Amino acid sequence: MKHAKWGRVLLAAALLGITGAALAADAADFGKREYDLKCASCHGLTGKGDGYYKPFLNVAPSNLSVITKKNNGVFPLEYVVQSIDGRGAVKAHGPREMPIWGRDFALEAGEKYFDVPYDGQAVVRARILALVDYLNRLQVY
Ligand code: HEC
Repeated sequence: MKHAKWGRVLLAAALLGITGAALAADAADFGKREYDLKCASCHGLTGKGDGYYKPFLNVAPSNLSVITKKNNGVFPLEYVVQSIDGRGAVKAHGPREMPIWGRDFALEAGEKYFDVPYDGQAVVRARILALVDYLNRLQVY
């Protein structure tokens, strides 16, 4: 009986340790954290376009792991930045199934830094570039 209890305590401790390590790794990988929180719901954890919301959308979320493959082996940096920040005219972005992240990030920065001077453009740019860097790492060849 006593042993079973300790077993459970050890198991819980081990699980906490693993989760803690995973969270710490994610915290260091800013782009991955942003992606997992803001994009994976539609585009899926590995970018294949198989996120949870897929069945509820009129236009299927793109497979983001083949952006480079579709562009003859070159990662189209400016196109990807503009698809994310909302400047890019992506077809399904007309009435936009794909949210306009540039605006969302700017609003969030305003809420967070309302009482200190900050460079809104730089905050938005940094978050988008972290995401783009992570997308570049999701590419399959
Ligand atoms: C509500 C669902 C949804 C969320 C959340 C979402 N997207 Fe999208 N995204 C879409 C859809 C739908 C398309 C397809 C647009 C089309 O085919 O015209 C798309 C297209 C894209 C494209 C263009 C891909 C291509 O091959 O042309 C990029 C890049 C992209 N999304 C990145 C992101 C990133 C980065 C995030 C998170 C910050 C994100 N998306 C979050 C729905 C979403």
